[in-house]
Amino acid sequence: MSSRRIGIFDSGVGGLTVVRAVNTLLPGESVVYFGDTARVPYGSKSPETVVRFSIEDAEFLLGKGIKLLVVACNTASSVSLPALREFADVPVIGVIEPGAKTAAASTQNGIVGVIGTLGTISSGAYQKALRSFGTVLRVVAQPSPLLVPLVEEGWLEHRITELVLREYTSPLVSEGIDTLVLGCTHYPLLKEALAGVLGPGISLVDSAGATAAEVSTILDSEGLRNEGGSGENSFYVSDIPLKFQEIAQRFLGRSVPLVTHVEVGDLHR
Ligand code: DGL
Repeated sequence: MSSRRIGIFDSGVGGLTVVRAVNTLLPGESVVYFGDTARVPYGSKSPETVVRFSIEDAEFLLGKGIKLLVVACNTASSVSLPALREFADVPVIGVIEPGAKTAAASTQNGIVGVIGTLGTISSGAYQKALRSFGTVLRVVAQPSPLLVPLVEEGWLEHRITELVLREYTSPLVSEGIDTLVLGCTHYPLLKEALAGVLGPGISLVDSAGATAAEVSTILDSEGLRNEGGSGENSFYVSDIPLKFQEIAQRFLGRSVPLVTHVEVGDLHR
């Protein structure tokens, strides 16, 4: 079982930030990734639709004989985990709990901000997870739907991105947050721009890194760690691979020469 791969899915390319974090922390583990590029974005869709898509994405990865399932998409994690845990025969990890835990450990004044897609913020999942920790007194949440397209456009240092970041974060700053959860796969790429806008007094919590740490913990507790594995990744997408390959480098830090297309209708086991 321990030599099996870790399955990671996302609505598209953004989950590669989680693959990158897992590869860095656990270089011996092999990953099979599915990006639902034919149906992205999930962030603006209803919870019912996101749950249905997530189950299909998970079925595809479970069919590959994985040992652990990681829901890299924040929107999918915020609404789909109970349904996924019901039918998956392997441990299922989302990005919300790990991110919230890290933020709760980081805050000094108990006022934590969270930014994410409309779906993630409306679900209340981060707000609930953060409030479950005694160190968090208040959560200030802000949907930030313009950020995903800006990141995919590569406008990481662009003045328009800076303006948008200022607009979205100024209410959080006014509320006195000392910690900000980057509650979306794409936002780790905006860390530098955000640090510039917010200054040194606000800590940025990246759920990709926190999730990789959680994966490591679960592998150990379940006896699933692949000692001395080769750490190979394979990538599947539901739309043609070209666009995914074009922007994958930005998220993963290296190119992905081989990406396999799978039809949405063929995702079922
Ligand atoms: N992966 C999504 C998330 O983390 C962002 C992109 C989308 O809306 O599908 O919420």
